[in-house]
Amino acid sequence: MTDQDIIVIYHSPDYPITYWQEWLDKLTSRIILVPLDSPEASRAEVMITWNPPKGAIAQMPHLKGVVSLAQGVDHLLSDPTLPQNLMIGRLIDPFMSQSMAEWVLLAILKEHRDDALYSAAAKRKEWTKTIPKIPEDFTVSVMGIGAIGGHVAEKVAGFGFSVLGWSRHEKSLSGVTSLTGIEGFNRCLAEADYVVSVLPLTEDTQDIYNAESFAKMKPGAFFINCGRGMQVDEDALIAALDRGHLSGACLDVFRVEPLPQDHPLWDHPKVTIWPHVSAQTSPITAATQVFDSIMAIREGKPPVNPVNPARGY
Ligand SMILES: NC(=O)c1ccc[n+]([C@@H]2O[C@H](COP(=O)([O-])OP(=O)(O)OC[C@H]3O[C@@H](n4cnc5c(N)ncnc54)[C@H](OP(=O)(O)O)[C@@H]3O)[C@@H](O)[C@H]2O)c1
Repeated sequence: MTDQDIIVIYHSPDYPITYWQEWLDKLTSRIILVPLDSPEASRAEVMITWNPPKGAIAQMPHLKGVVSLAQGVDHLLSDPTLPQNLMIGRLIDPFMSQSMAEWVLLAILKEHRDDALYSAAAKRKEWTKTIPKIPEDFTVSVMGIGAIGGHVAEKVAGFGFSVLGWSRHEKSLSGVTSLTGIEGFNRCLAEADYVVSVLPLTEDTQDIYNAESFAKMKPGAFFINCGRGMQVDEDALIAALDRGHLSGACLDVFRVEPLPQDHPLWDHPKVTIWPHVSAQTSPITAATQVFDSIMAIREGKPPVNPVNPARGY
């Protein structure tokens, strides 16, 4: 290493350090990624990370800022030892919004087009037809219509579904009825055939899908969660499915990840499990903003998508 090198700590359980190094190398030869436990880490002014161990960031004496290798920042803000003065940046990547829209539409359309029924019939070599369903007759509530959810809601509306969107502040999105507050929350749950959650995890959204909120959902509603697992009381979800109140669930995120082998959700006949891949971070699309944020933080400037920790997301 030389004096010109920029030491940046890298920590992510998802991808090896070489993967991100390779993409940053296409932008500069100066950034050297080092693991959290390396001797050089203590010299770093910037860290790029997903899910660092709690307490690790506070151990780094020269850190000026941290860049989340995700759009969510709950994995950083939930660390009680996180130093208050650190600049925090997150990703906002149109590729991730588009990936999420693909995944949500896949989940909705599999139900809407009776995929399971037709697949089973085809296995039995049965030529069978159901009555076509008109998307306009079905309501999709997108809970959280920020960078990702807003795009998801507009894409779902583009397929002709009636779309409600829930957020803290009112939004203007094409084909989406914007709702806020507890009245908006209740209406979203009561009217939706599909409840799609893309909410960030905060004190307000933890356990937001509990026995009470599942009971507020329309009988036969289908629940899709690609926000965070800690927002769902999984026992209450299973109970709502078992008593037939909900028709099914498609889940990408869980309270404990990886989902433990003995978890009842794995074998539930009405549940589809995905391993937190609905919108994965890719250095192919995100490396430039990560690079820009690293350089900005080193100069004492805010990263590309600065996070206000007081807001919680
Ligand atoms: N499963 C995956 O692979 C994956 C990938 C990426 C992201 N995610 C999840 O998706 C989340 C959203 O990402 P994003 O980039 O779209 O975040 P964002 O731009 O910050 O949008 C968050 C949205 O949630 C709303 N919201 C937050 N707290 C709320 C509350 N208490 N009541 C009502 N609405 C509330 C916000 O309302 P306002 O607009 O009024 O502020 C905003 O519309 C991430 O935090 C992460 O948890 C999951």
